Amino acid sequence: MLDPVDIPSSAGSCCVMNKHSFEIRRFRAADVAAVACLYRRAVRIGAAHAYPRTALIAWATPRQGISFLRNRLLATWTFVATDVAGRVLGFCEVMQNGHVRMLFTDPTATRRGIATALLDRGLAQARATGIRRFDTDASRVSAPVFARAGFRCTGRRMRGVSRARLLSHRMIRRG
Ligand SMILES: CC(C)(COP(=O)(O)OP(=O)(O)OC[C@H]1O[C@@H](n2cnc3c(N)ncnc32)[C@H](O)[C@@H]1OP(=O)(O)O)[C@@H](O)C(=O)NCCC(=O)NCCS
Repeated sequence: MLDPVDIPSSAGSCCVMNKHSFEIRRFRAADVAAVACLYRRAVRIGAAHAYPRTALIAWATPRQGISFLRNRLLATWTFVATDVAGRVLGFCEVMQNGHVRMLFTDPTATRRGIATALLDRGLAQARATGIRRFDTDASRVSAPVFARAGFRCTGRRMRGVSRARLLSHRMIRRG
């Protein structure tokens, strides 16, 4: 793992668990199947109102296999949100250079602050190593989440994601 400085595992997590609460923890190898499944659901269901179906199908079909994904998520600052039963509700991947690469919440668990909490945790981890500039290519769906977290839009562009080309918002945050 990349962790020169690992902030305490309790930071950003939720202590009192009820059916609506969630806990944030570091991604583990055993999470990869749940994360891959959540990714497909979040794209195909959660982003269905924002992109054409053909783009969604391509976006939901990663170029790389599951072991590649597992190894990459272990090597970056990746956090998952889990419910009281341990089910993965969302995940966020932050790269060592401050790039937020992935942010997804299961369609059954949106608008509960899960993406915001995951992003907070990922940025805090990066900040602990001295990173003070963050960027992302936000989808049409996630741009409001990043805006609320202090990112500002610097432009829009078509970019390749998995097998799709999607209109994305280039967003930056300092500090
Ligand atoms: C985008 C996504 C990650 C948001 O996850 P989430 O856990 O629902 O986000 P949060 O609950 O933290 O939302 C925080 C705030 O962002 C804004 N927001 C979130 N989803 C929004 C939406 N669909 N439309 C408008 N604003 C939205 C709201 O201001 C929200 O606060 P509020 O619920 O108090 O109004 C999730 O909807 C998702 O996975 N979507 C599909 C895939 C995708 O596009 N992922 C991003 C790839 S870059």
